[in-house]
Amino acid sequence: MKKILITGGAGFIGSHVVRLFVNKYPEYEIFNLDKLTYAGNLENLSDIDKKSNYHFLKADIVEAEVIHRLFEEHRFDGVIHLAAESHVDRSITNPMEFIFTNVVGTVNLLNAARSIWKDNLNDKRFYHISTDEVYGSLGNSGSFKETTPYNPHSPYSAAKASSDHFVRAYHDTFQLPTVISNCSNNYGPNQFPEKLIPLFINNIKNNKPLPVYGQGINVRDWLYVEDHAHAIDTIYHNGQIGETYNIGGNNEWKNIDLIKQLIEILDNKLGRPAGTSLALITYVTDRAGHDLRYAIDASKLKNELHWEPTVKFTEGFEKTVDWYLNNEKWLKNVTSGSYQDYYKKMYGL
Ligand code: NAD
Ligand code: TYD
Repeated sequence: MKKILITGGAGFIGSHVVRLFVNKYPEYEIFNLDKLTYAGNLENLSDIDKKSNYHFLKADIVEAEVIHRLFEEHRFDGVIHLAAESHVDRSITNPMEFIFTNVVGTVNLLNAARSIWKDNLNDKRFYHISTDEVYGSLGNSGSFKETTPYNPHSPYSAAKASSDHFVRAYHDTFQLPTVISNCSNNYGPNQFPEKLIPLFINNIKNNKPLPVYGQGINVRDWLYVEDHAHAIDTIYHNGQIGETYNIGGNNEWKNIDLIKQLIEILDNKLGRPAGTSLALITYVTDRAGHDLRYAIDASKLKNELHWEPTVKFTEGFEKTVDWYLNNEKWLKNVTSGSYQDYYKKMYGL
């Protein structure tokens, strides 16, 4: 029986990873450790939380002693580390929170793993989930490879870059069996409506302005969240210790084109005449330090571990819109309370 610690399992991507592991590996014990910040929501796991191989641990990765005690008590064999502050705009308003959770929190987990595993590193694995944003911004061509030098621009990506460096340093210095992946933008069910796609679905539904930063010309490479979860499963089990793997959707969209596509789908589903919601598009001041373009070269993962995305964008996008339209209660719950304050401060709209 393997014991696997998944951090940030109540968040967007983490909840899909926890679900996949709990269902696919009944022989593993899965421990979901989460602080339940504004972004963590146990409702995301209501379909699997009664399973006997699932356990929830409410804890803050910034608290070193608590983390050490949990490692001592449960003797995890592996760690899949997703817990993080994840929203670029919030990192511009409050960088320190990102340094505490993303850097200090990660090093606390590395220290706990190192200390508990020191006598026997066999079959142990510390898998750190990171982002393509650490590589910085691309011009109109090219893509990020695992060897692309780090060049982060936002406090979020700087904190993630720092955590990646610590993970590599613990492998090189202490032989901790680590692996890292850097993924492009995810979309799908359960994403907190501060990120582009769920925010705009919610606003279109409620006839609210759609705040497009700058000219809407920034490009992102979108991957369906379940594809990311499957990539994480592949890398956790088959990735080479000490290696980094890029994960991407091979699916680049200029923001404004993606938004128009979203409007087309939603106008149709909401029974509005085609193009009605185009009037909601509102160009607002650009995000500070806004990266122009991200694109991932995921050929290493394809060639070495045979992973490729399986969900076509049209299919994933439609599934995502349907999920938000069919899960009104979830959306209402997460957009009540402090979300309203955040929204007012952020957009003033
Ligand atoms: P999220 O914000 O939806 O979830 C983060 C989770 O971490 C939440 O459940 C939150 O409660 C928990 N958390 C935050 N601070 C914590 C702390 N101090 N202690 C314990 N738990 C804490 O994020 P996400 O979008 O699911 O991203 C998960 C990971 O994947 C992050 O590491 C992120 O950098 C990375 N990533 C995200 C994307 C994306 O498009 N969302 C793309 C690439 C990589
Ligand atoms: P986001 O979902 O925040 O992801 P990231 O910044 O990590 O890529 O944003 C995706 C793109 O959408 C990014 O170029 C910023 C843009 N954006 C807007 O134009 N308006 C918004 O209100 C938000 C949240 C994002």
